[in-house]
Amino acid sequence: MWSWFLPILGVLVLARGSSGGRLCAPLNFGQSSVVCQCNATYCDTLDPIVVPSVGNFSVYETSQSGKRLQVMSGTFTKRQPSPMDLVLTLNDKKKFQTIKGFGGAVTDSAALNILSLSDETKENLLRSYFSEEGIGYNILRVPMGSCDFSTRIYTYLDTEGDFSMKTFSLQVEDTKLKIPLIQKAKELSNRSISLFASPWTSPPWMKTNGAITGKGTLKGKPGDQYHKTWANYFIRFLDEYAKLNVTFWAVTVENEPTAGLVTDYPFQSLGFTPEHMRDFIASDLGPAFANSSHKQVKIMILDDNRLLLPYWAKVILSDLKAARYVHGIAVHWYLDAIVPADVTLGRTHQLYPDYFLFASEACTGFTPWNKGVQLGCWDRGNQYSHRIIEDLNYYVTGWTDWNLALDIEGGPTWVENNVDSPIIVDLSKDVFYKQPMFYHMAHFSKFIPEGSRRVGLDLNQGSQLETVAFLSPDGSVAVVVVLNRESVDVKFLISDPSLGVIDTVSPANSIQTYIWRRQ
Ligand SMILES: *[C@@H]1O[C@H](CO)[C@@H](O)[C@H](O)[C@H]1NC(C)=O
Ligand SMILES: *[C@@H]1O[C@H](CO)[C@@H](O)[C@H](O)[C@H]1NC(C)=O
Ligand SMILES: *[C@@H]1O[C@H](CO)[C@@H](O)[C@H](O)[C@H]1NC(C)=O
Ligand SMILES: *[C@@H]1O[C@H](CO)[C@@H](O)[C@H](O)[C@H]1NC(C)=O
Ligand SMILES: *[C@@H]1O[C@H](CO)[C@@H](O)[C@H](O)[C@H]1NC(C)=O
Repeated sequence: MWSWFLPILGVLVLARGSSGGRLCAPLNFGQSSVVCQCNATYCDTLDPIVVPSVGNFSVYETSQSGKRLQVMSGTFTKRQPSPMDLVLTLNDKKKFQTIKGFGGAVTDSAALNILSLSDETKENLLRSYFSEEGIGYNILRVPMGSCDFSTRIYTYLDTEGDFSMKTFSLQVEDTKLKIPLIQKAKELSNRSISLFASPWTSPPWMKTNGAITGKGTLKGKPGDQYHKTWANYFIRFLDEYAKLNVTFWAVTVENEPTAGLVTDYPFQSLGFTPEHMRDFIASDLGPAFANSSHKQVKIMILDDNRLLLPYWAKVILSDLKAARYVHGIAVHWYLDAIVPADVTLGRTHQLYPDYFLFASEACTGFTPWNKGVQLGCWDRGNQYSHRIIEDLNYYVTGWTDWNLALDIEGGPTWVENNVDSPIIVDLSKDVFYKQPMFYHMAHFSKFIPEGSRRVGLDLNQGSQLETVAFLSPDGSVAVVVVLNRESVDVKFLISDPSLGVIDTVSPANSIQTYIWRRQ
């Protein structure tokens, strides 16, 4: 428990529960850590964040041994660091990217899982993500049509040859699942929620292979009726959602455009080379957006693994006709383990600092040798926070998880591409489980609101700790996230030159968020 912490810090006090925050109801499934179980009558909650007055700080801690966002507070001291001390110094002279936010995807499967719970349990789940007592998600990704996490295959324009889109129609998944869920999330949140949409496939009759899956691209050439219709399909999608009061912050041009270049690709895809994407944006998609009521909607390229950077960005952004319609570059995390961040994200930012980087998809349990759900797996939480910290330190402005919730099998998925999710629902018991991944996401999403600015955090020596620092939008509050993936405690100091030092410890296998007022 936390009591060992006291002798080290001296001044810490446990500040939890004073206004009714509910504790995790832990459940162990034999993995390396626990899940927090929620049902119709019980779910753990967070108290509103109260940043202590200048001179004090709060720290929220989640650990493999079972802490979940436990809050403690303490006081800055004037102690002079000794040369042996590990010191993290907040350096607000170095200012980096502005944060857009954190969130997940409203896939058909996620929405189906969530809406199949009883009203009370569903309310607890959505409050966990979106309400003030939850973790403050403000980003939602919305697939345009079906994807691998759907229970059937469809597009909005399945009538062959309907170039004028007379038969375009949203489907029951939109009107009965995704849109109700999006509206509920917005009602529960007091943050502004930003949506972005991504298509997986065009209608098959527009594709070279005439099929939803497999290797295929749009028929014809940029500028022709296939490309114009596909661009207008985006506009029509945005129009139809707007009629139902759902508006979008951004779109990606295509989910994983390289998938559709692969023979026998197993689920919905539409292949683009970067040259094809460039010309489609320049001739069709860009002009369609510019000539619509969705001019303000941002267009993100790539939406695929960072392995393709900076090449993909160079091809599109060095072309002025395409580049003027583009705002951002979206990345997926699936090859991060073998592709360094500096030569991809870092290099791309250096070449194109005016285009934001944004992480648009990630999940665990996707590899053939480690597939599906592992209830309570601590390492999967570590994988999230490790990559989020790395991305943030390489200019990424937001981070989007994949399915908001999956079932106990890691589905449903029509193509049996079962994976893991921060929230797993067990419909047979009307319960859901908040996994370590959920709390790792919280250490960022809850404390780094939209408009926060990353600032420097200088370390005086090498360390196993992984760290990143921010200032709140008005600059008055500092936030430092500290991840320790090793099994030894690390003593360290956080120095904020105007205030003194926080004399503290990062426990083995833990993640902490420090937060303090500066003025
Ligand atoms: C709901 O969860 C709480 C806390 O784990 C438990 O005490 C209660 O019995 C559960 N209710 C039902 C109906 O399972
Ligand atoms: C910091 O917290 C301590 C303990 O709660 C309190 O006594 C002290 O007044 C606080 N200091 C400031 C500057 O608010
Ligand atoms: C959300 O609510 C909290 C506390 O209730 C408040 O401090 C914060 O300013 C609110 N944020 C917005 C954007 O309204
Ligand atoms: C959209 O919002 C307007 C204004 O708030 C409201 O009158 C209308 O009923 C809403 N439409 C739908 C379909 O929710
Ligand atoms: C712009 O949109 C209008 C109607 O929305 C359409 O009639 C016109 O052809 C479009 N222009 C271009 C260049 O696409």
